[in-house]
Amino acid sequence: MRWLVTGGLGFIGSTFVRLLLRERPEVEVVNLDAMTYAGNPANLADVAHDPRYRFVKGSIGDPTAVDAAIADGVDAIVNFAAETHVDRSILEPEAFLRTDILGTHTLLEAVRARGIRRFLQVSTDEVYGDVPSGASREGDPLRPRSPYSASKAGGDLQVLAYHATYATPVLITRGSNTYGPRQYPEKLVPLFVTNLLDDATVPLYGDGLQIRDWLHVDDHARGILSVLERGEIGGVYNLGGGNLRTNLELTRVLLDACGRTMTTHVRHVADREGHDRRYALDASKAHALGWQPQVAFEEGLRATVRWYRDNESWWRPLKSGEFLEYYRRQYAHR
Ligand code: DAU
Repeated sequence: MRWLVTGGLGFIGSTFVRLLLRERPEVEVVNLDAMTYAGNPANLADVAHDPRYRFVKGSIGDPTAVDAAIADGVDAIVNFAAETHVDRSILEPEAFLRTDILGTHTLLEAVRARGIRRFLQVSTDEVYGDVPSGASREGDPLRPRSPYSASKAGGDLQVLAYHATYATPVLITRGSNTYGPRQYPEKLVPLFVTNLLDDATVPLYGDGLQIRDWLHVDDHARGILSVLERGEIGGVYNLGGGNLRTNLELTRVLLDACGRTMTTHVRHVADREGHDRRYALDASKAHALGWQPQVAFEEGLRATVRWYRDNESWWRPLKSGEFLEYYRRQYAHR
């Protein structure tokens, strides 16, 4: 079997590629990745020479690159490739529409033309929009509220439309906030941890009482594999960690793990525009496939802090150049 993973140099994609190479000896992996700012070759340096792994540089929105990646035939495509950061989507939405909607469309066309047997779209709980109470189920209406989540919802709707129209064999996973090793340091957990390790302050948006549902990246990757192997074609599956925490609660654990305090190291800054207050997922459909998150939250978070502490050579080069310019643009005026 040969599977195409797109965006395999990213945070969740690289974790998934490593999982496949470790636990599915019958599977060869082709990784199509555009190597934009968050696609990092260091994420897969340990498997780069594995004979079951092949890398193709290119964007999912480029039909020629997609053709090159699937030229030898593939049995499945798992689409991790996306623009993913909400704050960047507020600054510059266009790339999000291009990759998350049009890129998804290019892949769907390839699946249709080549008769590929499975297409799994990696999506997000953010497509449901703000969830003041209860938990989102897969059939709930999509009410995205940021350019990022609206682009992901657009991708999901294309995927479902291809299933209805062309009987394209699709699956969708909607994951909750993911944390763990190798996450680009623009997101809350790696940004806060690396700032704290540097004895710098962390910028907490608004009152910090926004709620997210946290899922370890290993659990997320395993959930995607379960859905790919056992999900019902045409189905959508929520992958929620079941760890609802306010940003303030999460920040307290990070401060403690880094030996810092709220008064000295937290900078309260203006809230994100259109900030969703709360996400929560009902993941019982995925649980029925036999998937359950394994990593206990506080323990997983502390292990993640240790990973960043022990792997400074991974994140230090990322916090320079383009990142510093983004950081200034995003935070200097707040
Ligand atoms: O829910 C799944 C989503 O989780 C994924 O689809 C997205 O790709 C991923 O970026 C993430 O979205 P969030 O916007 O929830 O993640 P982020 O790490 O940017 O922010 C988490 C929370 O922390 C959110 O309420 C905003 C807040 N925050 C974030 C940053 C970067 C801060 O208070 N300060 C910050 O500097």
